[in-house]
Amino acid sequence: MKLLIVGKPGAGKGTQASMIDSYYHIPHISTGAIFREAINDKTELGVIAKSYIDKGNLVPDEITIGLVEERLLKDDCKHSFLLDGFPRNEAQAEALDEFLVKHNLKLDCVLNVDVPDDILIKRIVGRRVCSNCGETYNLTFNPPKRADLCDKCSGKLLHRSDDKEDTFKNRLFVYEENTAPLIEYYQNKGILKSINGDQPLDEVFGDIKDILSKLED
Ligand code: AP5
Ligand code: MG
Ligand code: ZN
Repeated sequence: MKLLIVGKPGAGKGTQASMIDSYYHIPHISTGAIFREAINDKTELGVIAKSYIDKGNLVPDEITIGLVEERLLKDDCKHSFLLDGFPRNEAQAEALDEFLVKHNLKLDCVLNVDVPDDILIKRIVGRRVCSNCGETYNLTFNPPKRADLCDKCSGKLLHRSDDKEDTFKNRLFVYEENTAPLIEYYQNKGILKSINGDQPLDEVFGDIKDILSKLED
């Protein structure tokens, strides 16, 4: 299956993508996670990405599109992939379409995780991310078994530098301006499926499984 997961910042894209990856063994490609890893490793990409991410702005398309295409050409993406956080504007969506046509590939479904704005900020404030493997937790809604340590790899859990209230507000604004129009873009292609993301994690995942099981038929 070739899938996209879209939604506002904090909607639960990464959380659900990780559950989809574990259950269906579909490579989960998060552009945000790729940038955060580069920032941690202090690479050239990381230094550039940080200057945009810390303000809640988009990293320029020239950087992001090439990076995703390079990742999609790896062997593990031949039959399936799940893109989380890309595309994020019309230029990226068009570049992805061109890439797919060129490689004779087709998206099966775009999962849109829908959550009201007032819930998002509560999720962001309590979010903790593993500094080693990127797994996401929430102090209130999805706590780790041991305080500040990842259940999966025992890595240290950190607060994301772009999870400050002001930066979050700008991310939401950037979403409305740039990413929201993609809902209609994929609706027009007939592949958009919206899910109520304002439910417990497992129930959101249950709805996603229902959608994906119909695609598998
Ligand atoms: P990115 O990392 O993609 O951030 P985002 O879109 O703002 O989304 P988040 O990761 O904040 O939220 P999420 O939907 O994944 O929610 P999560 O599952 O963590 O991008 C970061 C930055 O990188 C961007 O601002 C930009 O600068 C740059 N960037 C990335 N991609 C780019 C691109 N294509 N082009 C240009 N720039 C790009 O969940 C949130 C919290 O809620 C967690 O604590 C979780 O445990 C909890 N939670 C999840 N689901 C539930 C639930 N059902 N009930 C209760 N709690 C829940
Ligand atoms: Mg995420
Ligand atoms: Zn971890």
